[in-house]
Amino acid sequence: MGELRGLLDSIREEYPIMDLVDVRLKEILESRSTFVDEINHYLLRHKGKGIRPTLVVLSATLGPVNTQVLVDVASAVELIHLASLLHDDVIDGSGLRRGQPTVGRRWGNLVAVLAGDYLFASAFGLLALRQQLFALGALANAVRAMCEGEIEQALYSWPDEPDESVYLSHIGKKTASLLAACCEVGAHLAGGSSEQVTALREYGLNLGYAFQIVDDLLDVLGEEEKIGKPTMLDLKRGLPTLPIIRLMQRGEDGRAVLDIVKQIDDSRTSDRSSVSLLIRNVMMETGVMEESRSEARVYADRAINQLKQLPMPESVSEYLTRLALAVASQI
Ligand code: IPE
Ligand code: IPE
Ligand code: MG
Ligand code: MG
Repeated sequence: MGELRGLLDSIREEYPIMDLVDVRLKEILESRSTFVDEINHYLLRHKGKGIRPTLVVLSATLGPVNTQVLVDVASAVELIHLASLLHDDVIDGSGLRRGQPTVGRRWGNLVAVLAGDYLFASAFGLLALRQQLFALGALANAVRAMCEGEIEQALYSWPDEPDESVYLSHIGKKTASLLAACCEVGAHLAGGSSEQVTALREYGLNLGYAFQIVDDLLDVLGEEEKIGKPTMLDLKRGLPTLPIIRLMQRGEDGRAVLDIVKQIDDSRTSDRSSVSLLIRNVMMETGVMEESRSEARVYADRAINQLKQLPMPESVSEYLTRLALAVASQI
């Protein structure tokens, strides 16, 4: 986790345009409604890692780009991401994001949903203002995929033997589609050829798979203070993430863990930490944690493979390579 944030921070230092994105986000989110203004200030108070605008900026090094347009496109992807976080926390019933209470927890879910809509509209308004038709199309498609992913994840009833390809389809849509679009849009903005745009899109897509697999591992292995969001949330909701699916494929072990998960529901606060510890141990001992880690690494390597033919500055391919490796080795 620390390594990824550290890497993104050092990229930020080298690309001052990232600071212009922060300034622009504040500007865009100013509202004459004092209520909305208060929520937006609250959201911007704790910055995220900024991986999506960073992907736009790095992909746009393929060629010359107008700075103001780049700032606005990069700001738009962060707004879309923020909107998806607001909605996702309502979906997941989460009370903690970036180390502070979620908008839903603080103002209620009704407000969180509408504030998310406000952010989506702000993002697309910004792209319209800059007449960025390609970005509008690509990001609209990404948002559609994200909605599909979240809806499918919510409505899908998992069979006793969960299918890994269903999990991969969900994470591809809800997470990887946006990272793919960020790279695609940045590359297109810089005048990249269609092969180059596709290669960067594939980089983002594979990075996205690795990113969500690791995020799902952090649900089990992470620490709340470090990741700034609750742990064990997916587990308690019975969401079969990769380590759970792998466990269930092993028959008895999988069922034992599911029983433990049921206990979490019952025990709530009292012996929650000992139950979590037990689950972590089972996952470590059976090797499913390690397997999931290497699966994330496979996707990171696939992402890195896409960079070979791209005519970008050496330093940028290096950053993108390190980014993929840092994503996969967060835990
Ligand atoms: C969290 O994304 C949502 C997922 C897709 C797992 P990030 O980890 O990029 O969130 P922030 O912006 O850094 O808070
Ligand atoms: C990613 O899934 C959701 C989004 C695409 C916003 P998660 O539900 O695992 O994300 P976190 O863990 O809440 O950040
Ligand atoms: Mg969530
Ligand atoms: Mg998660």
